[in-house]
Amino acid sequence: MRVLVTGGAGYIGSHMVARLRAARHEVLVVDDLSSGHREAVPSDVGFVQVDVADRIRVAGLLASERVEAILHFASRIQVGESVRDPRLHYRGNLGAAISLLESALDARVGIFILSSTAAVYGDPIRLPIDEDHPTQPVNPYGDTKLAIERMLASYARAYGIRYAALRYFNAAGADVARGLGERHHPETHLIPIVIEAALGQRDRVEVFGTDYDTPDGTCIRDYIHVVDLCEAHLAALEYLKAGGDSGAFNLGTGRGHSVEDVIAVARRVTQRTIPVAYGPRRQGDPPRLVASASWAERAFGWRAQRPTLDEIVTDAWRFHSQGR
Ligand code: UFG
Repeated sequence: MRVLVTGGAGYIGSHMVARLRAARHEVLVVDDLSSGHREAVPSDVGFVQVDVADRIRVAGLLASERVEAILHFASRIQVGESVRDPRLHYRGNLGAAISLLESALDARVGIFILSSTAAVYGDPIRLPIDEDHPTQPVNPYGDTKLAIERMLASYARAYGIRYAALRYFNAAGADVARGLGERHHPETHLIPIVIEAALGQRDRVEVFGTDYDTPDGTCIRDYIHVVDLCEAHLAALEYLKAGGDSGAFNLGTGRGHSVEDVIAVARRVTQRTIPVAYGPRRQGDPPRLVASASWAERAFGWRAQRPTLDEIVTDAWRFHSQGR
């Protein structure tokens, strides 16, 4: 298919571009490079530096390139930022998606895949979290993603666009063979931070809270390998192309790991000292987030193939320690 990848120079988007090409899809990337890296997109892939909210240019591209599907990764992702400065997320996530969908309708693009998030659920009332779990985001980031999901549901009914909102749990890891990995500035995610500490690039890891109601007192998350995420997008794309029903699908492994687990695995994998400081809770962190991804398995036959923390941390370590 002819696929537009927004945010294709970013962490997950760049992995997706590589996977789509391997599956022989025709790929065009748009990215404003506000956080992405130009060199993460191969030079023989069509690339346009543009804001996805630039309706005229994006609509023109969709039409001239006869794009059949949009994979929308471009997004603001920091929960804390969304609380401090919510308009960045309302404009950058919701506003941009409204504009992008206008362009998509104008150009009659039939398929839309959204990078959504576990943050749409808010504080879980039961575990594992399935898609029937109530959606009550506790921060503007989650609010904006949920609003986009609702817009997609309405547009699907009214205009016939088919969509999948893929609710990621904690994306991590790297595609080492392709030289791709996670490079956020500033980095806020646990696994790259732990690895930077192992490499001596930061003094220590601060553990945010040790008094949660979990076995070791630290927060539990469902870490999913970025390559597994990409496989899920590919499967969702084929599913929608074949006429599968639109909807929201969790992407996770169903396994939970604490912050202490991550640090312990990283010490073993890296064989390095990782200094730790125990600090207070970070505001807005739910104690446990663990997915049930059975809907994705039933709908498009996807299941994580790299579900262990060892694989995820090992790949992140290899990427970061290869002197990129
Ligand atoms: N953590 C630390 N120290 C750090 C960084 C993180 O202890 O320096 C802890 C956090 O408190 C949390 C866990 O490690 O318990 C994971 O934190 P991340 O920041 O790596 O990831 P989050 O779970 O906060 O966020 C992820 C995605 C978001 C998404 C959210 C869903 O990155 O985009 O899951 O709730 F919104």
